[in-house]
Amino acid sequence: MAVKPIVMYPAEVLEKPCEKVIIFDRKLTKLLADMYDTMIENDGVGLAAPQVGISKQIAIVDIDDHHGTIELINPEILEVRGEQTGPEGCLSFPGLFGEVTRANYVKVKTFTRKGKVKIVEAEGFLARAIQHEIDHLHGVLFTSKVEKYLDENDLESAEG
Ligand code: CO
Repeated sequence: MAVKPIVMYPAEVLEKPCEKVIIFDRKLTKLLADMYDTMIENDGVGLAAPQVGISKQIAIVDIDDHHGTIELINPEILEVRGEQTGPEGCLSFPGLFGEVTRANYVKVKTFTRKGKVKIVEAEGFLARAIQHEIDHLHGVLFTSKVEKYLDENDLESAEG
């Protein structure tokens, strides 16, 4: 177990675009494992590398369904469809929740930890979590998309 401290807003690393991964090595595997431990420890449904202080295009999403943990490395959204509006939070903004509108379906080109191209398709809440994490990799925070802030007592945890 290697739980890393989560970078809280405001911090420069959260608002700058991350660099692409070019080396797929053991260091990357270790980082993914540490990010997983950190996400689980904090009851998150996703985590992006800048949230642990690393400005690289690496994120993970796990909404605790049959998809398991989705690893996003240099992800690129190829296609979006539809729209959904729902509550969102972020581990870098503890206790803050707001309604965000996102695409209901996404098709994403990403890389595996071994450097192979992989296509990921998702809809609903999983698609939301993926879009939230990809935004992090471009220095975009969910607060820039919140339409209405919500009282956390009305919500189930949905932080990423
Ligand atoms: Co977040």
